[in-house]
Amino acid sequence: MGRIPEETIEQILAATDIVDLVGSYLPLKRAGSNFKANCPFHNEKTPSFMVNPSRQSYHCFGCGEGGSAIGFVMAYENLPFPDAVKKLATRAGVLIQEDAYDPEADKRRRKKSRLLELHNGTAKFMHEQLMAAPEAQHARDYLKSRGYGRGMAERWMIGWMPNNQNTYLDWARAQKYTGRELCDSGIALQKDAGGLYVRFRDRLMFPILNDYGDIIGFSGRQLREDPRSGKYINSPETMLFKKSKVFFALDRARRSMTKDKFALLCEGQIDVIACHEAGITSAIATLGTACTPEHARLLKRYTNDVVLCFDADGAGAKAADKAFAIMSAEGMHLRMIAMPEGEDPDSLMKKQGTEAFRELVENARDYFEVKLERETHKRDLTSVRERAALANELAILVAHVEDKMTKDALINMVATRLGLGAEELRGGVVQAEKQKSRSQFYETRQSAKDDQQQDVAPKTMPTPINGSVSYLCHLALTSQEAQDWLGEQLESLIDPLASLPGGSILRNILSKCPDPEKPAAIQMFISSLSDEDQMALRGSLTQDPPEQPVRAAEETTAMLVSTHFQNKESAIRARLREPNLGPEEMIALMNQAKDLQDILKNLQQRFIR
Ligand code: UTP
Ligand code: MN
Repeated sequence: MGRIPEETIEQILAATDIVDLVGSYLPLKRAGSNFKANCPFHNEKTPSFMVNPSRQSYHCFGCGEGGSAIGFVMAYENLPFPDAVKKLATRAGVLIQEDAYDPEADKRRRKKSRLLELHNGTAKFMHEQLMAAPEAQHARDYLKSRGYGRGMAERWMIGWMPNNQNTYLDWARAQKYTGRELCDSGIALQKDAGGLYVRFRDRLMFPILNDYGDIIGFSGRQLREDPRSGKYINSPETMLFKKSKVFFALDRARRSMTKDKFALLCEGQIDVIACHEAGITSAIATLGTACTPEHARLLKRYTNDVVLCFDADGAGAKAADKAFAIMSAEGMHLRMIAMPEGEDPDSLMKKQGTEAFRELVENARDYFEVKLERETHKRDLTSVRERAALANELAILVAHVEDKMTKDALINMVATRLGLGAEELRGGVVQAEKQKSRSQFYETRQSAKDDQQQDVAPKTMPTPINGSVSYLCHLALTSQEAQDWLGEQLESLIDPLASLPGGSILRNILSKCPDPEKPAAIQMFISSLSDEDQMALRGSLTQDPPEQPVRAAEETTAMLVSTHFQNKESAIRARLREPNLGPEEMIALMNQAKDLQDILKNLQQRFIR
């Protein structure tokens, strides 16, 4: 995106009601002339997050986060300033005058809409194949054998991808899609010898939609068992499809979730469809991947309560543990359905009826209770060694829980059930927190085959860079005013930049001060950086600066600096809770905490209007 004129920003803010906006992300309650909620930026039980309609601003008295509607979208969605503005513009129906001089962004946008069109057309093509093609009889028979008729196929726009790939490729050519577009969509791949081949063949095809209802990918189920490829194959990561952020059926389920006050997280799309068809409409599933923190944050917009419905087998238990760890770390509350061994929602409803399954959903209990019950059945807990092993495994899970009260309650519950001392177990949890490498929860259920289909990683990896830091680099390299302003803030930026990823790149820019008006100077400066740093900067160099670069720099700096000081303050608070703290040390820490609070208060007065 190019420049956004100041009047456009004003127009967008005028057309946006911050109460509506924030209310679309989290439930707001009226409190006098303001509105309040539990703060989305830190964990809390009693609301200290206030939205002020007359000032059109928000502020959290707990963590100090605050600002305008734009600031809220930046913080909540973790977006840089221009993207947040763009998002609000779309929402408010304000047209941002797209500039003629950003061909890159324009190209990207056109490409994206072509890819969406291609997905949409392909879904229709495959749906027609399934409904009518003589060669698709076995696919129709398969659906029928699973108890599904035409209605279900229509409601979910299920399709069939022919075994003869020319049927599809001919269609695509007739629609004037290029080979490049087919490859970019992930539907086809380039053969080494030249020519294309289609990723999905003779598969039952499920469209994957984003939360606005656009088709962004597909999942295809084998119709004839063939061990040479997976039972399910999903679209690879593309410009449209990011599997760590997509839930199957979220577009349908999100309304029900806010009504039902929970999300039903299933293992696969067939289960999700079975649930929706049976009227259990808050069902969703991830796609060939385990839960990620992005998934958790996406879900948190709609509900804090997740009911897990995973298979009762080993893989299911592992996936459930991971979901628990990831979601609890985001402060969500997890329950679990006690599924009978060997059943999934689809098979259970077929055998015992929808009521039986609905009852299981209604009787879902706290994740840990179900987990403990299962483990105690499975193991011989008269053996001290088994008890210790189980206590260790559970301590690792409890260590992921963000909410302190929940954590204490879990420790007490596990201690009681296992006949261990609560303090002993707490020690185990503290230990696990220290070595908490979430990586153990990160392998996915996805097949090795899927992995190979991903792009080969480049040899040089870009330096990791924090989003706000990257945006400030962009501002400093494209606007003299912004560079000057940032230079003046250097003193307050030194500390945060030392601790944030990519901070050294910005410091480098601010000490060398290459002239943004002189392209050659900028090029010289960039080529003096390491390859990794150059790659990290690459993304930000294609954009033009915003109309108000200093204002953008102010907003972004405010975010960055306050995040930094909040991190620091929580670290000090954590140290204050340590046992055996000497009185002098304690006083020193308390003074530091107070100083930090003052700094944070000053920051708000300085930056937030
Ligand atoms: P399951 O093997 O439990 O399949 O995989 P399912 O949902 O019960 O499907 P049916 O009933 O056999 O048709 C659960 C989910 O894991 C992913 C898919 O998203 C699937 O829905 N998966 C499974 C893959 O991505 N690849 C595979 O090879 C298998
Ligand atoms: Mn199944």
